[in-house]
Amino acid sequence: MSRFPTTRLRRLRRTPALRSAFAETRLHPAALVLPVFVKQGLTAPEPIGSMPGVSQHTPESVAALAKEAADLGVGGMILFGIPTAKDAQGSSGWDPDGPVPTATRAIRDAVGEDLVLWADVCQCEYTDHGHCGPLDATGQVVNDDAVAAYVRDAVTYANAGADLVAPSGMMDGQVAAIRAGLDEADHQGVGLVAYAAKYASAYYGPFRDAAESAMVAGDRAGHQMDPANRREAHRELELDVVEGADVLMVKPALPYLDVIADARDRFGLPVAAYQVSGEYAMVHAAAERGWLDGDAALREAVLGIVRAGADLVLTYAALELARSRA
Ligand code: PBG
Ligand code: ZN
Repeated sequence: MSRFPTTRLRRLRRTPALRSAFAETRLHPAALVLPVFVKQGLTAPEPIGSMPGVSQHTPESVAALAKEAADLGVGGMILFGIPTAKDAQGSSGWDPDGPVPTATRAIRDAVGEDLVLWADVCQCEYTDHGHCGPLDATGQVVNDDAVAAYVRDAVTYANAGADLVAPSGMMDGQVAAIRAGLDEADHQGVGLVAYAAKYASAYYGPFRDAAESAMVAGDRAGHQMDPANRREAHRELELDVVEGADVLMVKPALPYLDVIADARDRFGLPVAAYQVSGEYAMVHAAAERGWLDGDAALREAVLGIVRAGADLVLTYAALELARSRA
């Protein structure tokens, strides 16, 4: 027998109050950001089959949702737009009357500055081929033409009242170009969230239904990161810091906790992580079969993402988590 008393780690786990008092990580509503789909021409919200509880919104219904999010103290909302018209260039992306600018103005009218408003910036929802920018003859996205489109998009969304723009296309040089474009348009106060380490992931499947942005042919592996790569993420993150990002994002979240932890350790910028559509949908699918408790599983995943180092988590469960005071 040891001369020392047995260490009893169970003492601090005995009651809910003890566990709560000694929790190392807490989920606060302000750390959650809700992704929202706004569809032009829609007259009533339209549920998304592969994402239970998530709908495409009209500019009116999105304003009500924003009010609810603001009342719950949620940290923000990120908007994705679905236009009525698509072409090879994705020119509806920078239409000041497109879905994102229209929704942004409606939300500002409803909640003023009470909710942080992000606008995702990419062209895949606006091109008829579903790629993140115009294509060359071989079907690859033309980097600098895509970036020029992102600058126009970002300035349009800033003009409409976005607090933050978030380029998700993974083109080289997109952060520097957008920062310069915003500054030139007198939007020095609009921040830039870099989807710095965004992987070519199988977990985006349901999103492409929700945003109607599935590719007619091909994939995004020519610009999004290879899931095998961790050190390459450091280069992506570092470049975006140098190019002027205000926030670094890692996406998806749960399969990339090492990358989230690295981002937190290596850089002083806030770190956001995106719990993507597939991460959300697979929990719901299992829960529907009675195979696990969906709310608990989502909460545990988001807690793990925060524990790994994320300051903010983009999650389709943001309102549910905020309501349960997570
Ligand atoms: C567009 C974009 C995607 C997501 C966010 N922005 C899809 C993609 O890259 O194909 C995915 C989000 C999700 O799955 O929830 N560039
Ligand atoms: Zn895209």
